[in-house]
Amino acid sequence: MNYPIEHIRADFPILAEKIRNKPLVYLDNAASCQKPNAVIDSISHLYRHDYANIHRGVHTLSVRATDKFEAAREKVRAFINATSDKEIIFVRGATEAINLIAQTYGKAHIKAGDEIVITAMEHHSNIVPWQMLCEQTGAVLKVAPMNMQGELIYDTFEALLNDKTRLVAVVHMSNALGTINPVKKMTDLAHSKGIPVMLDGAQAIPHMAVDVQALDCDFYVFSGHKLYGPSGIGVLYGKQALLEAMPPYQGGGDMIRTVSFEQSTYAGLPHKFEAGTPAIADVVGLGAAIDYLNGIGMAAIAEYEAQLLDYATEQARQIKGLRIIGEAEEKGAILSFVLDHIHPHDIGTMLDSLGIAIRAGHHCAMPVMDFYQVPATARASFAMYNTQEEVDVLMGGIKELIKIFG
Ligand code: ALA
Repeated sequence: MNYPIEHIRADFPILAEKIRNKPLVYLDNAASCQKPNAVIDSISHLYRHDYANIHRGVHTLSVRATDKFEAAREKVRAFINATSDKEIIFVRGATEAINLIAQTYGKAHIKAGDEIVITAMEHHSNIVPWQMLCEQTGAVLKVAPMNMQGELIYDTFEALLNDKTRLVAVVHMSNALGTINPVKKMTDLAHSKGIPVMLDGAQAIPHMAVDVQALDCDFYVFSGHKLYGPSGIGVLYGKQALLEAMPPYQGGGDMIRTVSFEQSTYAGLPHKFEAGTPAIADVVGLGAAIDYLNGIGMAAIAEYEAQLLDYATEQARQIKGLRIIGEAEEKGAILSFVLDHIHPHDIGTMLDSLGIAIRAGHHCAMPVMDFYQVPATARASFAMYNTQEEVDVLMGGIKELIKIFG
C-alpha cells in the first residue's frame, strides 16, 4: 500500500527525540498519542492571534475564537457523521462523558431493580460511574463475560438483556486487549428489546472510521488525546432527542437562557451541557487533529495498522516464554503480553533503557487482569506513525531481556 509513513513521522516532532541516547520508539499510544505539528501550531496560533473567551463578547477576538471553536464542533460532527452539531458536546474526556450520562440520563431513567449491562473487558471509566449510579439508585450492574481469546460471549450477552435492562454500556475497542466488539450487532439486538446503547469509543476512534448513524448507537464517547489531539478535551455524542430530554449536568455560565434568584432556565443544545468557560484552545486543537487525520484517511490508517499488528503478533508468537493476552479475531493495534519469570514493570523499565516506551500495569482494567490471573501486562500499542522497524526494535529488546533475566 502507498502509505506516506515518512511524511507522517516527520509531522510529529517528538518522534525525533532521543531517549537515553537511543531513538525514541513510542509504543504507548493507547495511553496517549503524540501530537502532529498541525495540532501544536493550531493551539499556538490561537493563543498568539485569535484568543479570547467565546460566546460572550462582541469584540473581534471573541468572535474569531468563537468561530474557531464552533468550526471544530462541526469537524467533530462530520468526523463521526452525527446528524447535527447539537449532538456534539465538549467534555474533558471519555471519562467525563460517561459520568455525565450516568448522572443525567441514568438518574432520570434508571431506578431500583433496573439493570445496566456492561462487559468483562471494560475500562474502569465504564465500570465505576455505573457502580456509583447503582449505589445511588439501587440499580444492578450486570457483566457480560468474555472467553480466553478476550472475545465477548455473545449468547450470554444476549441472555442478559431482559425487561429490566435500561442501558447497555460497552467498550468499542478494549484498551487492555485490543478486542473490537461487534457493536453494531449488539446495538441492533439491544434496540430490538427497546434498550439504549452507549459506546465507549476512547480506544476505537484513532484506529477506524466511526459513523454514529451507521452504528445507530444512542451515545458515543471519546477523548481527544488518544486521537492525536490535546488532553483535557473529549466528546460526548448523543442522539438529539435523548440529549434534549436530559437534565443538565453542571450549572453555571453559558448553559443558561435566563437566571433569577427564583428560577433559571437552560440553554438549548449543545450549550446546556457546557457550563463555564471550556477548553477553547484544546477544542481548536482537536479540530486540527481531525483535519490532519482526514488528510491521511481513516481507512488507510486502519489498513496500515492492521498490517503492523499482524507483523508484531507474528514476531511475538515466535518468542519462547511470551504469552499474548488478548487474541480476539477482531482486534485493533494493541499487543498485551506477559513474559515467564519477568514482571511487566521490569519489562517496561528495561525497555525504557533502550528508548522503547510501552505501558506496564493493569491499564485501568483490573477485572481483565483478574480474569487472566495476572497482576499486570506489558502493552505495546501502535499508532499510525509506528513502523515495522520499531516492532523489530521492540522484539529485539524483549529477546535481550529474556536472555538476561528469563
Ligand atoms: N486508559 C489509558 C490506557 O489504556 C490511560 O493506558
